[in-house]
Amino acid sequence: MLEANTVSILVLAFLILFPIFLIPKLKGWTHTSQSTILPRLRLWRKRQSSEIISLRMYPIKSCRGFEVQKTVLKEHGLDLDRRWMLVDAATNEFLTIRQIPDMTRIGTALSDDGLDLLVTIPGAESVQTVRVPCHPSHDWLANNTTVAPVKIWDSDTDGYIYSDSVNAPFSAFLGRPVALVYKGPTPRVLKGNGAPKLLGRVQTTGFPDVFPILVASEASLSELNVRLRQKGVDPITVERFRPNIVIRGESPWSEDSWKTVRISAENKAPLDLDIVARCARCLVPNVDPDTAAKHKKQPWDMLISYRRVDEGIKWKPCFGMLGAPRSEGVVEVGMRLEVLEETNEHRYITGF
Ligand SMILES: *[C@@H]1O[C@H](CO)[C@@H](O)[C@H](O)[C@H]1NC(C)=O
Ligand SMILES: *[C@@H]1O[C@H](CO)[C@@H](O)[C@H](O)[C@H]1NC(C)=O
Repeated sequence: MLEANTVSILVLAFLILFPIFLIPKLKGWTHTSQSTILPRLRLWRKRQSSEIISLRMYPIKSCRGFEVQKTVLKEHGLDLDRRWMLVDAATNEFLTIRQIPDMTRIGTALSDDGLDLLVTIPGAESVQTVRVPCHPSHDWLANNTTVAPVKIWDSDTDGYIYSDSVNAPFSAFLGRPVALVYKGPTPRVLKGNGAPKLLGRVQTTGFPDVFPILVASEASLSELNVRLRQKGVDPITVERFRPNIVIRGESPWSEDSWKTVRISAENKAPLDLDIVARCARCLVPNVDPDTAAKHKKQPWDMLISYRRVDEGIKWKPCFGMLGAPRSEGVVEVGMRLEVLEETNEHRYITGF
């Protein structure tokens, strides 16, 4: 009798407690189905994993960059990526390929010893080469530059402005007075999706538009090129999108939901990156990096027809993912890129 009573009390307790505890939970699940259930289900699937097939740096914003086999991933981006930019010599406002497509005809390379940046500038008679140290010392900067406020998008920061002898060939080529600028001492803190409140830490960068790293997938580019070919448009190269890390990619556009990725190889410390946002595109990919000729329509028209995938920036197509490295270390072509976490909640926050 006593045992039967205990059983009925337990059953009763269960029937009372079930609605109290479980129903609200179930309700919560339906409400957060996107954020809670889907990532859990994803654990059942194989983790996305791919390999790095190209590493690219663009030392001077909007100018031609180059590929490397190996470099250092810093919290601000790849070692030499966008550490320099060109500004209008009168206003110190940044200049980009958006207004001046010819900027892509200014080339950059490393000297044989890897210590200097060689900048090649087309000229009326011959190509001019400007040579500056890749990692200028405090002394060198004090001798050769002056610090001044500079403006990039809506953000005011500062830069080391080079002397007239360095700037002259740039001004001659672009047909207006410009100055070369190295990122100054004041940190440029990430904003928008990378703002300290959202990222959980204060992170800075040099002169990229918004975030330190852009990752692109070759699989997605190939899918885009199939569509372009169907329209009779020649395939484009990944350089149009100016990414830093190119991966082979498992399936096109699977990067849209990345949240955290890990770059690793045997005998190397793994490097984790927060993927903070999708990369919303402008018309820059229409500019041919070789000739600076700007295509009137493509790939913009094609991208806008099917790549408006981010609720936060509905009128721009997305290509590539923007990341903020959590740690620093050597990165090399051939390293594995593994997706640690995915999300359905990417939503671009506009404003720089
Ligand atoms: C800077 O200038 C001073 C004086 O001309 C010179 O002694 C020194 O070697 C220079 N430093 C660098 C790094 O160029
Ligand atoms: C930098 O300054 C030194 C003098 O300290 C000078 O010899 C050198 O030519 C300058 N280099 C550039 C690229 O301006």
